[in-house]
Amino acid sequence: MSKILVTGGTGFIGSHTVVELHNAGYTPVIIDNLSNSNIQILDQIAKITGVRPEFHEFDLCDEAKTHAFVQANPDITGIIHFAASKAVGESVEQPLKYYHNNFFSLINLLNAYRGKPINFVFSSSCTVYGEPDTLPVTEAAPVKQAASPYGNTKQISEEILAEISAAYGNYNTIALRYFNPVGAHSSALIGELPLGVPQNLLPFITQTAIGKREKLTVFGGDYDTPDGSCIRDYIHVVDLAKAHVAAIRLLEKGNPNGNYDVFNVGTGKGYSVLEAIAAFEKASGQKLNYVIGPRRDGDIIRVWGDVTKSTAQLGWKAELGIDEMMASAWAWEKYLQENPIG
Ligand code: WQD
Repeated sequence: MSKILVTGGTGFIGSHTVVELHNAGYTPVIIDNLSNSNIQILDQIAKITGVRPEFHEFDLCDEAKTHAFVQANPDITGIIHFAASKAVGESVEQPLKYYHNNFFSLINLLNAYRGKPINFVFSSSCTVYGEPDTLPVTEAAPVKQAASPYGNTKQISEEILAEISAAYGNYNTIALRYFNPVGAHSSALIGELPLGVPQNLLPFITQTAIGKREKLTVFGGDYDTPDGSCIRDYIHVVDLAKAHVAAIRLLEKGNPNGNYDVFNVGTGKGYSVLEAIAAFEKASGQKLNYVIGPRRDGDIIRVWGDVTKSTAQLGWKAELGIDEMMASAWAWEKYLQENPIG
């Protein structure tokens, strides 16, 4: 079975992708420095798949360790690169940490594969679009001035991949532009595991509902949207994980679009924050304690993806709706209450 390297594989999207790779008959191999995840996730994955994934703990910013790993593992045919810092707010406060971590890890990994044919799937983000001029946003939309160092690292990383794919010929790459990943595996054994106070909406909702947080603040109720709150394209993390398997398969088959390509990974439908809250209350049966507060700097008002290209050319389409996103996120939060991780 083809060995696929999953960097950041103990993280939220990484762990779900490891499960889907296993389900698709691949052998996932994880590298993670555990800076934003917990090693117990390996046991959780084993409870789901029956196999504890091969795991290597080191930082991809360590060039020597990265090269040594690649030399010792010649049978890896593909890479799914998640390992990066990803908190928008933190990146504004600590830009150097973001540029160092996100670029050194990517470049070390690419350098270690110089001259070796490799399929490479990159975790990118819809933040590259900024505030789109037209909606739904397609992959042909112009990349806008990044609203944060985090978003800038995604834009520049995409440019690096496009240029090295054209220059060297041994890298076959796909960048997946995620919209908003939410939810958890149906087993409720893995899910989003924010360290400290959650930055993202869904974990804040579920932690408020379970009583870990006193209330949710909706960042802004006076935007130019139907109910005044921001609109996002929420996508179930399991659907997102399956998109990575589809990308690996396309690269193995040979992408007719060439050796660098970009795909939107969303549902094509936008929900406002208040609609997301209502969907959570319906799915969980829990009334949520929230208030409308001031806007959050840097927030995009409305963004949702055009997924025509992904459906037609990646051979992938999201299947799970907002109800399952909310129900699975709630089931995971309740699991954590009885089985704390970390
Ligand atoms: C969603 C909406 C907030 C928290 C970012 C990155 C993206 C991806 C996901 C990594 C916004 C509102 C949130 C809260 C709120 N990153 N909100 N109260 O900012 O759309 O996307 O995280 O994978 O690349 O850009 O996600 O979940 O932070 O916010 O009202 O306590 O929820 O204002 O409208 P965001 P988010």
